[in-house]
Amino acid sequence: MTFEATTFPLLVPARLGAHALANRLVMAPMTRNRAEADGTATPLMAEYYAQRASAGLIIAEASTPNAVGQTYPNITALHTDAHTAGWRQVTKAVQAAGGGPMFLQIQHGGRVGHPDNSGLTPIAPSPIPLPETIHTPTGRQAAVTPREMTAEDIRNTVRDFAAAARRAVDAGFAGVEVHSANGYLLHQFLAPNTNHRIDAYGGSIENRIRFTTEVIDAVIAEIGAHRTGLRISPGNTVNGITDTDANLLYPALLEANGDKDLAYLHLAFATPAQALFNRLRDIWPGTLIANPVLPADQIPADGGKDAAERLMAAGADLIALGRPFLANPDLVQRLRTGAPVNPVRAKYAMYTGGPTGYTDYPVLAAHNCP
Ligand SMILES: Cc1cc2nc3c(=O)[nH]c(=O)nc-3n(C[C@H](O)[C@H](O)[C@H](O)COP(=O)(O)O)c2cc1C
Repeated sequence: MTFEATTFPLLVPARLGAHALANRLVMAPMTRNRAEADGTATPLMAEYYAQRASAGLIIAEASTPNAVGQTYPNITALHTDAHTAGWRQVTKAVQAAGGGPMFLQIQHGGRVGHPDNSGLTPIAPSPIPLPETIHTPTGRQAAVTPREMTAEDIRNTVRDFAAAARRAVDAGFAGVEVHSANGYLLHQFLAPNTNHRIDAYGGSIENRIRFTTEVIDAVIAEIGAHRTGLRISPGNTVNGITDTDANLLYPALLEANGDKDLAYLHLAFATPAQALFNRLRDIWPGTLIANPVLPADQIPADGGKDAAERLMAAGADLIALGRPFLANPDLVQRLRTGAPVNPVRAKYAMYTGGPTGYTDYPVLAAHNCP
């Protein structure tokens, strides 16, 4: 074992199924609103991801599988040939930069959407509006009441996830991450405060986990379990979600899906000391990617290394970091050398178009690199 490997567990190479990962650092999915208005990925996005090719694994940002699933303006989509071609230029650029595998997160917004963004009334498990305003091209607006999904809507949405997964593989991704976190559609089915259904998709835990499980099964049937990841965020209250029975629901969700040999489970807002973290680690037999909780206002001076290594000591296999990668294209190099990390420059908008605050974060000068 090399000096580096013993000193920096995060930098030890790993495997994800058939893929060799250069290190255990995963770039977390981050929506940056740099796509064309129709959701097609751009050359600027290819440049941004290629700059971050040294991550062991990149999970590219939320991409909507159909028009009604669109959340905000200029997010990426994956339901037309143009979308597939747009993403293909991104995966090619990352490969050309020497990158490892890339997964793409598939996200349906559910009630987190607006007719001014998608042209459609949002759909959700129940007609309960987001208790927040939502960003639109004309500024923030009150959320509208979503239409309750019919059985046909549910079938169509499951089908659209599978179709997007097929497109992702065609576009050069190693697989997709099913987004069942952060208050978007799948999470809205899981949580009791957003799911008041009285059919087979609401009420009991067994019923509330059904939709996520059906999406996972459809994606597996389309592209294989080894290409299917799952993201959850138990207890995260973003987008008005209240996971009142997280301690029972998430173990049940993982028990229902743990024997399917998925590529990975991705746990957002992971806290190593938490009983639920330990329980989920015990249940999940496969690769666990954990995304530590870093301070909300600014990334720590060590780029998240300490939090990451504590999660690894608690049983995580790979560590996902978001803002540290946003602000540091060469994060891996900085952690390797102990070089200071760039802070996130708050004055540069995270979610607006153009290269500012996107592709203009500096890398270490060549003479600083060993
Ligand atoms: C600009 C930005 C965009 C994000 N977009 C997504 C997204 O598309 N999908 C998702 O699951 N999480 C998203 N997140 C959450 C991140 O994946 C991550 O969980 C969060 O930033 C916490 O990790 P960090 O402290 O390392 O940044 C986003 C976060 C940021 C800062």
